[in-house]
Amino acid sequence: MLKEVAATRYVTPLWEGGSLPGLVEADDLGTYVMKFTGAGQGRRTLVAEVISAGIARRLGLRVPDVVRMELDPVIGLGEPDQEVQELLKASGGANFGMDFLPGSIGYDPLAYAVSARESGRIVWFDALINNVDRSWRNPNLLVWHGDLWLIDHGASMIWQHNWPTAAKAALRPYDASDHVLASFGPDIGAAQEELGPRVTEEALRECVAEVPGEWLCEEPGFDSVEEVRAAHVRTLAARLEGLGERITIGERSGDGPSRAPGWLTGRTGDPPGSGDGRASASGDPKGGRA
Ligand SMILES: Nc1ncnc2c1ncn2[C@@H]1O[C@H](COP(=O)(O)OP(=O)(O)OP(=O)(O)O)[C@@H](O)[C@H]1O
Ligand SMILES: [Mg+2]
Repeated sequence: MLKEVAATRYVTPLWEGGSLPGLVEADDLGTYVMKFTGAGQGRRTLVAEVISAGIARRLGLRVPDVVRMELDPVIGLGEPDQEVQELLKASGGANFGMDFLPGSIGYDPLAYAVSARESGRIVWFDALINNVDRSWRNPNLLVWHGDLWLIDHGASMIWQHNWPTAAKAALRPYDASDHVLASFGPDIGAAQEELGPRVTEEALRECVAEVPGEWLCEEPGFDSVEEVRAAHVRTLAARLEGLGERITIGERSGDGPSRAPGWLTGRTGDPPGSGDGRASASGDPKGGRA
């Protein structure tokens, strides 16, 4: 079960985040980076956050603790910014929270080298969840007390935006050419051998069971929340098969425009309903900020 807390004070918006996350205090006296169901990216990105964090933890990768955060929109009434006010108003109920790491800094590959083993584990994990947002443009890695921490897994598992093609999407290759750790010679073979056996169906079921049911209800094509959970487990289990062989690392793309999907680059973009769905680690959420 996900730990459950209630938001008590909205401290400040994190303007650098494309989905306008907020720094929020909770009734357990913790401070969290909160992401909202009312954001343009939609609740499926929060589903991806919860499942991904659960898998990462089981693989021994560092991810800040995640929680289910109840929001009473009344705490936003005094917010001076209208965009923030509207976001809070639209997000009553269960939202997503990630433990805030105070004093952490954004990862810079030139300042912090990672071993082939460690980069392999992270690239392999990103391939499993189909993360399109850990590129050199936007690493979504933090350094805290000298260690590397993984954050921001909302732009993963994009198959949930188009369930009828999910089985096929799960088998697509993962192009890690633009992955922020690509230059460290990720040892994919070692990662496959070490991490593959840990992603059992039972582990996947446990991770998916942590997703608040409210985020999975009324999913088109499904009769129940449990069916949606089963689809998540099935798709991830299918993706796992021979995953290491489907990861490619080639030439990094130039400094030109991002190949990130449009829905990821703005606060109000539509999630993908179709498209070729080919995954690559090339996100650039800064590009489309309003
Ligand atoms: N747990 C955390 N501890 C400290 N800082 C954090 C944490 N999570 C996020 N941040 C900071 O907030 C920023 C935005 O968070 P995050 O990347 O998760 O949001 P996002 O809206 O998905 O952003 P984007 O899509 O633009 O990458 C991060 O780049 C980082 O600077
Ligand atoms: Mg981010």
